[in-house]
Amino acid sequence: MRELTNWLSGRADPDSFPYFPVTAEFHRNGKHFVATELLARLAGIRARLGVPVADAGPARLLRDFLDVALDKWDDRYDYRSYLGLTLLGLPCDDGDDAPGRDLATARRERDRLLVRLIADALAFESAAAVGDTELLPEQRPGPQTVAKRHRHGLRAVAPALSRLGLAGAVEHPQPAAAVAALHALAVADRSAEEERALRLSMLPVYVSHDEYLFIRVLQAYECTFAALADELRGAIADLTGGRGPAAAERLESARQRLVTAGPLFSMLATMQAESFRTFRAYTEGASAIQSRSYKAMESLCRTPEGDRLDSPAYRSVPEVRERVRAGRPCVDAAYTAAARDGRLAGPERDLVRRRMREFASAVLQWRRTHHRLAVRMLGAQPGTGYTEGTPYLAGVRAIPVFTAVADEPDPSAAEPTGGCPE
Ligand code: HEM
Repeated sequence: MRELTNWLSGRADPDSFPYFPVTAEFHRNGKHFVATELLARLAGIRARLGVPVADAGPARLLRDFLDVALDKWDDRYDYRSYLGLTLLGLPCDDGDDAPGRDLATARRERDRLLVRLIADALAFESAAAVGDTELLPEQRPGPQTVAKRHRHGLRAVAPALSRLGLAGAVEHPQPAAAVAALHALAVADRSAEEERALRLSMLPVYVSHDEYLFIRVLQAYECTFAALADELRGAIADLTGGRGPAAAERLESARQRLVTAGPLFSMLATMQAESFRTFRAYTEGASAIQSRSYKAMESLCRTPEGDRLDSPAYRSVPEVRERVRAGRPCVDAAYTAAARDGRLAGPERDLVRRRMREFASAVLQWRRTHHRLAVRMLGAQPGTGYTEGTPYLAGVRAIPVFTAVADEPDPSAAEPTGGCPE
């Protein structure tokens, strides 16, 4: 590759690394099929950078990118590297409540990232529909499918836009025009670094159009789970400090974020099953069972029982498992302790209890919708996370979210549609 040769024969400054010519090579046939010669050269560059590159900056970005690009070469390809989570600044281990950032800033940054991811996914659909991109050219969807994706994506992004004070900024009777406005807004809002991170975090394994949607939806859910984990950590601190209304607000914010992300599943349900089957042949070993943010969220609600902790569910996320074994605090225990010793009582306790029930209901609903989507896309095939597939999901979907409110009815169970993806 000429650009790489030129870069290597010059000062090989990380700041001027030819990222986009390199990603173009990855896009040509998919990450699974990149030429060995290019991978060997990239591995050589990474070796010269040394490990670890601790400080943020051009060398660190290059190192993170090469780790993502070389995951298959290194034989450590997984869910985190598939989605390029480090490049997007999303938690790759157990995460932590956005250190050093106040609540409003942390929430705002999650919303901005969500908007960037969805706007980009929708803009790709628009560009492909009018022949403006050659990226991932196989199995393009028809116009009706594109229109559905636009509609669902606009619904998924609306609550974040509203929280950012941008409600109405992308309203238009024609979804395609609204998508164009959303894309323009997202482009204007993002910094050059954010733009680069977005581009670098798209390294599909193959060249099927729908893999773009799949990756962006998974990333958007990762962003959502990370936000939920932040909210739950905040709720635990509030419960411990006897601040019932603040804890209730955190739980309600978490619930809203999860519920309003629901159209992301609807978007993904428009994926062509044939397309999914094609590219998933090369995603073996990367499964959301490895999502640290999801399991952090789950274990911040309630300490998982021993058999779940010893199952593939937690063995796939060893950092989270360790935290739990070390006695991680959770909402369930913080609530029970605060209610027992009188820090939380009367209407404030009832409010927290109600919010816990409502959040639990949203999580159970998410699991049921996820299970239905998986059945539709996978049928009887096993999962890429080495489980038997949908029977695993059927077995875990009703695990109680909180013990303290587990005996109370789940209001969402009786919903007629139950958020069915379509
Ligand atoms: C085509 C769409 C999808 C299919 C077919 C699917 C299928 C599966 C399967 C079979 C598993 C079991 C583990 C394994 O062996 O891989 C799983 C787990 C999981 N999936 Fe999905 N999934 C889909 C979309 C998503 C999306 C969009 C998310 C959002 C991040 C997601 C999040 C999860 C999580 C968190 C788990 C772990 C659940 C647990 O361990 O309790 N999935 N999925």
